[in-house]
Amino acid sequence: MMRTKMNHHAILMALFLLQVVAFSNSAPLSTNSRWLVDSVTGKRVKLACVNWPSHLEPMIAEGLDKKPINDIIQKISENGFNCVRFTWPTYMFTRPEYGNLRVSESLDKYNLSAAKAGIAKNNPQILSLTVVELHKTVVGELGKNKVMVVLDNHVSLPTWCCAGNDGNGFFGDAYFDPKEWLQGLAAVATAYKGFPQVVGMSLRNELRGGRQNEPDWYKYMQEGSNTIHAQNPDLLVIVSGLYTDTNLGYLRSKAFEINFTNKLVFEAHWYTFGIPDKAWSDQTNNLCATVTKRARDNYLFLTSAKNSFPVFISEFGIDERGLSVADSRYITCFLAAVAEFDVDWALWSLQGSYILRQGKLNLDESYGILDINWDRLRNPAFVSRLQIVQQINQDFTSKKPTYYKMFHPLSGQCVQIVKNEIVLANCNNASRWDQHQDDSPIKLEGTAECLSVDGDGAAPHVSEDCSSKWKIVSSSGLHLAAQDGKGEYLCLEVNASDSRIVTKKCLCVGNDLSNLRTCADNPQSQWFKLVPANV
Ligand SMILES: *[C@@H]1O[C@H](CO)[C@@H](O)[C@H](O)[C@H]1NC(C)=O
Ligand SMILES: *[C@@H]1O[C@H](CO)[C@@H](O)[C@H](O)[C@H]1NC(C)=O
Ligand SMILES: *[C@@H]1O[C@H](CO)[C@@H](O)[C@H](O)[C@H]1NC(C)=O
Ligand SMILES: *[C@@H]1O[C@H](CO)[C@@H](O)[C@H](O)[C@H]1NC(C)=O
Repeated sequence: MMRTKMNHHAILMALFLLQVVAFSNSAPLSTNSRWLVDSVTGKRVKLACVNWPSHLEPMIAEGLDKKPINDIIQKISENGFNCVRFTWPTYMFTRPEYGNLRVSESLDKYNLSAAKAGIAKNNPQILSLTVVELHKTVVGELGKNKVMVVLDNHVSLPTWCCAGNDGNGFFGDAYFDPKEWLQGLAAVATAYKGFPQVVGMSLRNELRGGRQNEPDWYKYMQEGSNTIHAQNPDLLVIVSGLYTDTNLGYLRSKAFEINFTNKLVFEAHWYTFGIPDKAWSDQTNNLCATVTKRARDNYLFLTSAKNSFPVFISEFGIDERGLSVADSRYITCFLAAVAEFDVDWALWSLQGSYILRQGKLNLDESYGILDINWDRLRNPAFVSRLQIVQQINQDFTSKKPTYYKMFHPLSGQCVQIVKNEIVLANCNNASRWDQHQDDSPIKLEGTAECLSVDGDGAAPHVSEDCSSKWKIVSSSGLHLAAQDGKGEYLCLEVNASDSRIVTKKCLCVGNDLSNLRTCADNPQSQWFKLVPANV
């Protein structure tokens, strides 16, 4: 508390702080039950992040060889991301021989002459910075552009992540000394004091490998959490689970014990690695049911537990060339779940290329939203499907009643009634629906009008006829159906060729999860999710 008369120094300090606040996006964040909030106003803040790696051998944020830093940041913002999950390797902040390397020296060390020429052209001012100074410069520029930052300890030894046996997987592995890791967390938490755009730190990416076990997880993750908080109490402390960040189910039986409150967030990764194309094409609907249930059981349950916490899906993503059946079906299923839970998230990933990854120069990243030259979006249709999850749909502070947006995850659009026509439109402008329980009419909020079935192949319509009762008829929870005049269930569907909404015979419905029935049809066009919203 400052009770003395302000001296000149204090006034300058105050002016400096004002500037810092002016360019920051928000006050420190904290948690209120399962939600992230601005700690001053109490208003909900949602992290809609994209990952940006800076943890590979050169320790240089990817893309600075391709475009000026502010061009890259502008692309992040203009595509609807308000946040970056920015990675760092432990050694960069614990070992001077890593952290004190200048950008030019680090490039020379690996003979990266083309990248060096690219940086000299696009970002010449960074060549003489140390890699730590560069890390802070990137975070500083993100802040000036009102982009929030989550700092993610991705590996210890700077390198590509994450093989089970790469020495970076778990406490005690070849490069993963727990003491040094704690030192690194403390160093980063301290280095980023006074950077209000840095809203949180992730303790460690994708713990894994033969050494992983729950007792060590509790021991070190609790200690790491306390360490970050002790150094920088403004930060959210973001804790990842075992098995490459796919499981936090053990928190049901043993609580996570830390010495602070209102800052703890859990994170998880949700990809479809290991599930072959054939499984997805044979069983799209039941597989979606299975992976969604797994996500609920492993981590989404934390958002509705008695003692609830925010869950940050800090990695998910697909090969944006659209070559994988598994990816294209998983992501549709994923978007429905994430829209429903309205959790915070970070897409993998921003980078169209890597300066050096796994020994290869200028490696293309097919999961990157940007192309290899960082010029334009690799797949604009994919990014546009993220729009509903980039919005806040549920504001827990709002007194307004909940309604539903009828979300079609395959297109990324929502159902809208325009002059009695039923169409797909931007989810910002979705029609508001009421449905009090399953198997009951779906009403347009604030009217006496309901959605009703007209017949196979016909468009459903909205009128005062409220006799159609809509029911979820499949294991995935994503088929909305009502009976036609003959008593047969017809499902909402979007016709892929003309984008019209019709009702058709339901594809691949059936609830028997234990006996995954093969269904060669692709039901994705029939997937709709009633997403709760009140904003
Ligand atoms: C870089 O090039 C020099 C000279 O050609 C060579 O001796 C060295 O092994 C190279 N270093 C790496 C990391 O490729
Ligand atoms: C919490 O734990 C950290 C790390 O062990 C310690 O430095 C700090 O003093 C503790 N804080 C409180 C309030 O007990
Ligand atoms: C939203 O929908 C209404 C009709 O329901 C329409 O008049 C308006 O132009 C739409 N706005 C946008 C931004 O699409
Ligand atoms: C989709 O729309 C086109 C064009 O209106 C029509 O020819 C086709 O039969 C429709 N497909 C289905 C499955 O209803």
